Amino acid sequence: MSDAPLLRVDDLRVTYRTRSGDLPAVQGVSFDLERGASLGLAGESGCGKSTMANAILRLLPTGTTVDGAVLLDGQDVLAMNPGRLRSVRWTEGAIVFQGALHALNPVQRIGAQIAEPMLLHRTQPSKRAASTRVAELLEQVGLPADRAGAYPHQLSGGQRQRVLIAMALACDPSLLIADEPTTALDVMVQAQVLALLARLRVERGLSMIFITHDLSVLTDVCDDLAVMYGGRIVEEGRSDELFHTPRHPYTAGLAAAFPTIGDPASRMNPSGLGGDPPDPAHLPSGCPFHPRCARAEDRCRTERPLLMPAGELRRAACVLVEEPS
Ligand SMILES: Nc1ncnc2c1ncn2[C@@H]1O[C@H](COP(=O)(O)OP(=O)(O)OP(=O)(O)O)[C@@H](O)[C@H]1O
Ligand SMILES: [Mg+2]
Repeated sequence: MSDAPLLRVDDLRVTYRTRSGDLPAVQGVSFDLERGASLGLAGESGCGKSTMANAILRLLPTGTTVDGAVLLDGQDVLAMNPGRLRSVRWTEGAIVFQGALHALNPVQRIGAQIAEPMLLHRTQPSKRAASTRVAELLEQVGLPADRAGAYPHQLSGGQRQRVLIAMALACDPSLLIADEPTTALDVMVQAQVLALLARLRVERGLSMIFITHDLSVLTDVCDDLAVMYGGRIVEEGRSDELFHTPRHPYTAGLAAAFPTIGDPASRMNPSGLGGDPPDPAHLPSGCPFHPRCARAEDRCRTERPLLMPAGELRRAACVLVEEPS
């Protein structure tokens, strides 16, 4: 069992029920995450990154349809009963949510908030043991232990993000999912939080899924990258190779869109890509990227490309890449 990947996602499909009909936000995503490895997930707004992250820990609205398999340490998350699932969410896989900077309880000291999951899931035998652990966690995320007595409003955005990371690590999970953990932070603080996550991963042997729009950020933190478009992975490979020699035209556009880390202007309007991301409910025929692709040919309008080998440890879903050069 220990040779098996920590996480196996197999043909995951997620469909939201909305007033205007079904919205297939994730349309067949598969990947493995080995123990201690880190995977970066990139792609423009609405391509399904958060949906996939939330599906891994089954944190989706009631009524959402989830198909496929999610095996965390060999256990099928999609088949777990609610009690088992609650415990798995802290003790085996934890998530730092997108936009969670304001999610801390404003009237509770941060130490108590970090201790709460430990007491709930009994990973520490007593309140005293939990406070000792809170102090250790705060120091690990680069905050003085005496900040445990602070309220969230007494902390900066970067410090609050560190608290959220400490909270996610409270019950010592094997998997940490960080969904846009640095988007709301300024460039310097963003770099510090990224360095923290990279250090924690090595020190604690964590497996990590790191999500952002910004491909350039991921190359510093992640071994492997997957680029999503319209609810599917369109390219995957080793992170620096994928960033520096993209094979899929969409990856190339995304890489060109973020020449500098944290440029707010390029974040809002990626300059390497014209047009808008597709509506998952009405994906274009053939290759969903073809209406925006400068290299599109006639067949791109009709043939839907599958992920195919495109070099060593690389796969891409583009008919132009499939051809031997
Ligand atoms: N709770 C929900 N109910 C209905 N539709 C949703 C819900 N959450 C997300 N969606 C839709 O699902 C699609 C994927 O959204 P998701 O949040 O997964 O994208 P994302 O890649 O994380 O985007 P961003 O980069 O903006 O965070 C979008 O079309 C979005 O509007
Ligand atoms: Mg998101």
